[in-house]
Amino acid sequence: MQPHLIVVFYLALAAPLCFVVVQAQKFLPEPPTFIKPCALKDSQSNDCLARNIENIFQHWRNGVPGLSDVGSLDPFRVSRLRIAQRVPPNVDVRVELRNMTTVGLSQAKILNSTTLYNTGHYNLGFHVHLTQIDLTSKYKLKGHILLLNLNSTGVLTSKLDNLEFYVALRMRPLQAEGITFMNVTAIKTDIARIDNIRINLTNLFNGNKELERSANEIFNENWRVLFEILRPVLTQTFDSVLEDRFTKVFRYLPAKYLFKDVE
Ligand SMILES: *[C@@H]1O[C@H](CO)[C@@H](O)[C@H](O)[C@H]1NC(C)=O
Ligand SMILES: *[C@@H]1O[C@H](CO)[C@@H](O)[C@H](O)[C@H]1NC(C)=O
Ligand SMILES: *[C@@H]1O[C@H](CO)[C@@H](O)[C@H](O)[C@H]1NC(C)=O
Ligand SMILES: *[C@@H]1O[C@H](CO)[C@@H](O)[C@H](O)[C@H]1NC(C)=O
Ligand SMILES: *[C@@H]1O[C@H](CO)[C@@H](O)[C@H](O)[C@H]1NC(C)=O
Repeated sequence: MQPHLIVVFYLALAAPLCFVVVQAQKFLPEPPTFIKPCALKDSQSNDCLARNIENIFQHWRNGVPGLSDVGSLDPFRVSRLRIAQRVPPNVDVRVELRNMTTVGLSQAKILNSTTLYNTGHYNLGFHVHLTQIDLTSKYKLKGHILLLNLNSTGVLTSKLDNLEFYVALRMRPLQAEGITFMNVTAIKTDIARIDNIRINLTNLFNGNKELERSANEIFNENWRVLFEILRPVLTQTFDSVLEDRFTKVFRYLPAKYLFKDVE
């Protein structure tokens, strides 16, 4: 979409599909200094948007001033996650994670960002790089991984190196009390790359340290197998953290703080 077409689009305010009126809206009265309005026209490399997203992650890692329901990003907590994964012949497990915390999300670097306008929606895409994520959780595990029969509960600690994922975000303009915000309508992440996973599960064989050590060694030597177990958890975690943040932040920041062509 060309810039002048965006102007035309915004002049056509009457189109009921484009704007929906909502109830009383809390918003940030002044734009933060670390955010610049970026062009929203179709682009294969929107560096301006990439910097904004990176800055939002870093500056608001402990929460968003004035928004009490946006939690901390570092550490980030998830109370409960369940995984059932079957990848014959190596893996057939059910895992429950409780009180998971991750550290490292606020260090996200946005490698690039694309924008595309399509049928009333803006589609943003960006590649995110995380140097290291540390994860700690209580775990409960049952099933088999690489010929090991397991049935245990304990503590899981893990380090993920050089993780890269792609985020697809859809949003559309929304009017509230005469101000335009962006309503995030969908967000989806996809892990594109990971260089290594180190894992340590305690109490794998009723406290038998010898067996525990050799099982952990087997896991670490075969970390790609573990990745297939952890992939849905990681994807779910990224989906939920990003959906929560972007939805709340974009409903709190008037769209014109972030995007140039929005009135
Ligand atoms: C998780 O943390 C909450 C709050 O700190 C605590 O009440 C709960 O017992 C914990 N659950 C497990 C399984 O450790
Ligand atoms: C963004 O960066 C990733 C990782 O370097 C690359 O695979 C992808 O092709 C890039 N996309 C664009 C649109 O430049
Ligand atoms: C797994 O361990 C629990 C608790 O120790 C025990 O009650 C259960 O019978 C075990 N299940 C299997 C399949 O061994
Ligand atoms: C914002 O988007 C969500 C998700 O698509 C939708 O459920 C909700 O109705 C939208 N809100 C408004 C006010 O349009
Ligand atoms: C695994 O974690 C336990 C408990 O935190 C610790 O005692 C042990 O040294 C760790 N093992 C490795 C190989 O890091």
